[in-house]
Amino acid sequence: MRAADVQSEITKVLVTEEQIRAKLDDIAARVVADYEGRDLLLVGVLKGAVMVMADFARSLPREITMDWMAVSSYGTGTKSSGVVQIRKDLDSDLTGKHVLIVEDIIDSGLTLSWLLENFASRGAASVEVFALLRKPDAAKVEVDCRYIGFDISNEFVVGYGLDYAEKYRNLRDVAVLAPHVYA
Ligand code: XMP
Ligand code: MG
Repeated sequence: MRAADVQSEITKVLVTEEQIRAKLDDIAARVVADYEGRDLLLVGVLKGAVMVMADFARSLPREITMDWMAVSSYGTGTKSSGVVQIRKDLDSDLTGKHVLIVEDIIDSGLTLSWLLENFASRGAASVEVFALLRKPDAAKVEVDCRYIGFDISNEFVVGYGLDYAEKYRNLRDVAVLAPHVYA
């Protein structure tokens, strides 16, 4: 896609690449302190969390392991339904592990609350959440999330892993998609 095409399809940049980098460093420092002396398993939720996982893992100056889970929450267009299906399960056994779920965004919170319940039955020593973005005005359920990057307005966003119809994941910033794109 040419740059000119992308510019006409986003209305504004909400979070820049530089802001994301700085925030990941802050959160990495907290995680290093919080998990001192403990093994840490990062679980990325595919596909949206690919970018944040890649950058966050590299901002952690300590040993970690990584696993991935793919879920789809059925819904139409830009809304989540809360009906979650596992598309790819974890490779690891969570028994006794300290797990940090890495998510791109908490919107309604339905996906993550489902995931937390699912993980609770797998015997992890602890399960915490890092979500790069959160939309407080869209919450349908409260999710206990220890690390949050940015609270943003209740608009559909793309970039830095987030897609609309599988596009825009490679944008470096997080931006609001112009309504005409999905109208
Ligand atoms: P919730 O919290 O509503 O979100 O269960 C579930 C998943 O939906 C995706 N999502 C978005 N993707 N722009 C996107 O590109 C958005 O504004 C947005 N809101 C939610 C995301 O994968 C999240 O994990
Ligand atoms: Mg996601």
